[in-house]
Amino acid sequence: MKTFSQANELLADIKANHNGQIKVALVPTMGNLHSGHLQLVKHAHQVADIIVASVFVNPMQFSASEDLNSYPRTLDDDIKKLIVEKTDYLFLPTVDIMYPDGLKNHTSINNQHLNDMLCGISRPTHFQGVCTVVSKLFNLVRPDVAVFGEKDFQQLTIVKKMVADLCMPTQIISVATERAGDGLALSSRNHYLTTDQRKIAPQLYATLQAVSRSIINGDRRFSQLCQSAREQLNKHGFKVDYLDIRDQHTLALLDNNDTNSEVAILVAAQLGDTRLLDNIRINL
Ligand code: PAF
Repeated sequence: MKTFSQANELLADIKANHNGQIKVALVPTMGNLHSGHLQLVKHAHQVADIIVASVFVNPMQFSASEDLNSYPRTLDDDIKKLIVEKTDYLFLPTVDIMYPDGLKNHTSINNQHLNDMLCGISRPTHFQGVCTVVSKLFNLVRPDVAVFGEKDFQQLTIVKKMVADLCMPTQIISVATERAGDGLALSSRNHYLTTDQRKIAPQLYATLQAVSRSIINGDRRFSQLCQSAREQLNKHGFKVDYLDIRDQHTLALLDNNDTNSEVAILVAAQLGDTRLLDNIRINL
């Protein structure tokens, strides 16, 4: 695996060593890689010839109250894992390379509509930071495809919309959420859970599964289903931020008895100090 912090050098190396029609996949990450990220790399191998992973903890997607400095940085481990997965290139830019003039007055990309819901309510500047850095990474690495996990479903939806709206030539591919044996979606944040919280955490997915079963069995009382699922989770010790049933593509909230057949159940909940996200999509 070759590592570059300057994208032009990375692109020149790809060009020099791989002539002809090669397909480049980018797996953008903030590091602290777990097997969910490695699934993205595995999947990238199925759809492209050259795999570039990026590790960049993007300051623009952290608010002043979120601690950018304490975000886990495990680069040596990440590199080992990426080599095992036969990643061809690691793009490892510095903050100075990505934001040479600083963050203040930086151009940003935002979809206000998709931002004003779900996680965007409690993290109002987060997705703007994500869209901006993802589009910078796309412009720098120029991938044919980019691979994202489905766990961060609002992020995936917003990135897809950005690519479509701005006619970006990169194809977005998504990969199913990787789960622990007890159902908990893998996340870098799971490390923050105490032993007791880790035992409770799988209830998040179990609750989504129960809602999903009810919908599949024909229950279309969406607001009641969400309300009782929220109550369940709160009883288990979560502090639910949202648990909604929405359209899988537009993320529009579904009314009771809506006949939409492509449904997403989305949840964000705090367990102690740790914010956990999960979702289930159903195609009826
Ligand atoms: O999902 C992430 O890890 C980040 O939001 C991303 C897409 C790498 C952008 O910084």
